[in-house]
Amino acid sequence: MARKKITVVGAGFVGATLAQRLAELELGDVVLVDIPQTEGMPAGKALDIMESGPIYGYDSRVTGATSYEPTRGSELVVITAGIPRKPGMSRDDLLNTNAGIVRQVTESVVRVSPDAILIVVSNPLDAMCLVALRASKFPKHRVIGMAGVLDSARMRSFIAEALQVSVENVHAMVLGGHGDTMVPLPRFSTVSGIPITELLSKDKIEAINRRTRDGGAEIVNLLKTGSAYYAPSASVAEMVESILKDKNKVLPCAAYLEGEYGVDGVYLGVPAKLGARGVVEVLQLNLSVEERIELQKSAAAVKESCQVLGAAARSS
Ligand code: APR
Repeated sequence: MARKKITVVGAGFVGATLAQRLAELELGDVVLVDIPQTEGMPAGKALDIMESGPIYGYDSRVTGATSYEPTRGSELVVITAGIPRKPGMSRDDLLNTNAGIVRQVTESVVRVSPDAILIVVSNPLDAMCLVALRASKFPKHRVIGMAGVLDSARMRSFIAEALQVSVENVHAMVLGGHGDTMVPLPRFSTVSGIPITELLSKDKIEAINRRTRDGGAEIVNLLKTGSAYYAPSASVAEMVESILKDKNKVLPCAAYLEGEYGVDGVYLGVPAKLGARGVVEVLQLNLSVEERIELQKSAAAVKESCQVLGAAARSS
């Protein structure tokens, strides 16, 4: 049986690292695409990744392209194209530039892969998902955003560090928009099933929540020339695996909401079951009044950035 074809658009830090991870996991053959001005760059990176195959023991084919014909018939397309943040920039500062890029990329990929599932990574994430949904005209379950897996992974790292336990024992839930209004949920974050609210003081939990919210900026400030890519690419790889292997993992993802959590017409981070169809189901957590209010605030912030784009969604 032929291997599945996965396209990664944007052969920059996130895209190229993702291509490497997908190849190492042997999730399919990978086509790495960038703009024509980058000339041989995507092909060069792809070849370099392929040549690691004999050492790591994978047979995935990795190729690079500066046009979309080689991506024809992809089962899954990950969009990482865009510009990343610089110190002092919020994700929303990227809004207009990346919206134009994501729209053009989406139109190009769906022309040759009309049945694909799209995973959007470009920021500001929630607004870019809506741009991709509109441009693709795909059903909502086939356009998904990567944010919650990353934000939760950051929170898991901080919890594991605070309690000196293995990251493998830690689960965390971060909902809402991928920005300053994201909603870490300590009640739903656990160490071997024990909520962290029983293991850590209020102050320590608040510090973890804050560091989680600022997790992207912390890295931007250290790097100075770009944004995070190791944990983001690892997060996408987990989503791709759940979809292509039809595992139905429950992962926090940006999904298009139509009434869930009292939110309508925007993308927002919620726990979603990811399987062969894409988003198989959005799970509804029993939130407290305060948690619900925080989520509503986050939805309002996302809606505002979508309205700036003129992609105004229906009001909730
Ligand atoms: N089509 C294809 N590729 C494009 C396009 C386009 N229209 N426009 C830009 N690109 C490419 C760039 O040429 C570059 O190689 O997208 C790549 C982006 O790579 P980086 O600048 O290294 O950025 P990266 O760190 O990978 O982040 C990409 O992911 O996490 C988000 O905020 C981040 O929006 C940013 C995106």
